[in-house]
Amino acid sequence: MRTKSGKATGPRHLLSILDLQDDLPDLLKRASVLKAQRRAGRLTKPFAGKALAMIFEKPSTRTRSSFELAMTELGGHAVYLSPGDMQLGRGETIPDTARVLSRYYHGITYRAFRHQDEESLARWSSIPVINALDDREHPCQIVADLLTLSERWKGSFRGRRLAYIGDGNNVLVSLLLGSALMGLDFVAAIPEDYRPPAEVIGKARALAGEAHATSEIVVSPQEAAKGADALYTDVWVSMGDESEEAERKEAFAGYQVDRALLERAKPGAFALHDLPAHRGLEITDEVMDGDRQAIWDQAENRLHAQKAILELLLGPPKGRRSR
Ligand code: CP
Ligand code: NVA
Repeated sequence: MRTKSGKATGPRHLLSILDLQDDLPDLLKRASVLKAQRRAGRLTKPFAGKALAMIFEKPSTRTRSSFELAMTELGGHAVYLSPGDMQLGRGETIPDTARVLSRYYHGITYRAFRHQDEESLARWSSIPVINALDDREHPCQIVADLLTLSERWKGSFRGRRLAYIGDGNNVLVSLLLGSALMGLDFVAAIPEDYRPPAEVIGKARALAGEAHATSEIVVSPQEAAKGADALYTDVWVSMGDESEEAERKEAFAGYQVDRALLERAKPGAFALHDLPAHRGLEITDEVMDGDRQAIWDQAENRLHAQKAILELLLGPPKGRRSR
């Protein structure tokens, strides 16, 4: 649909963290307010009558729970849809599914194997589509992670250095781009063969430059960890990469976040992981169960972040938000 001025209109989708380019700082502030309100037992129900469809092609603990609970706590309703139980699993097309769901719901979260399916759903939906993870990005995770870092660093990212150790996967791509948007100095240690596409690295560098920050990819975990304020890791074998398990375990053998790597970072540095973790592979029990981590805060913050995201995309336009 187009306005008289020829400008395209339509639902606002969240397929990449870049779709939040102008909103991230406000979104983090709003998530913080929603977190404080929940802790104080003050839940408002601005979403009465709103419903969210949640299509998950892959398993999920955090994303599914946090979106469903976020809708409930906002006064709305969420419906979990597994392709195996839908006609989608029997060959009904994504465009047809999008058109039907758009008649019932106010938004769709979609965890997909393929980013192109995510784009196809968005193209045919007249309601917002939210990427709940695909093979390219995991934007909602990174909103929760930035909220966690903002809490730890008292709201300021300036001069902070975040190091990522491991696979150049969906989480890394959203984190790389999200860090650049927030002006956070970012360095990732990734084996040469597992780097994200060159255009993503270039985009992150350009955005970081505009924000007077840095964005680097190196090979050595020790080099990345040196002087870092936080060390982030994710699984070596993502959902969908299972056939490469043996070669990946070999390629990432030196990329474990353990006490020794944390010792190379700044004295107050801590570990991050989006979870689920494979203890003993990308991260040790000692780090997961110790004090130098913010992993459980990250997991909790998924809930507060989802609420802020849902408000932004499905809620009343800015300025008419119910408090
Ligand atoms: N971090 C994350 O997205 O976890 P789930 O796969 O459990 O949703
Ligand atoms: N990179 C992981 C993230 C899981 C939340 C995967 O895609 O399986």
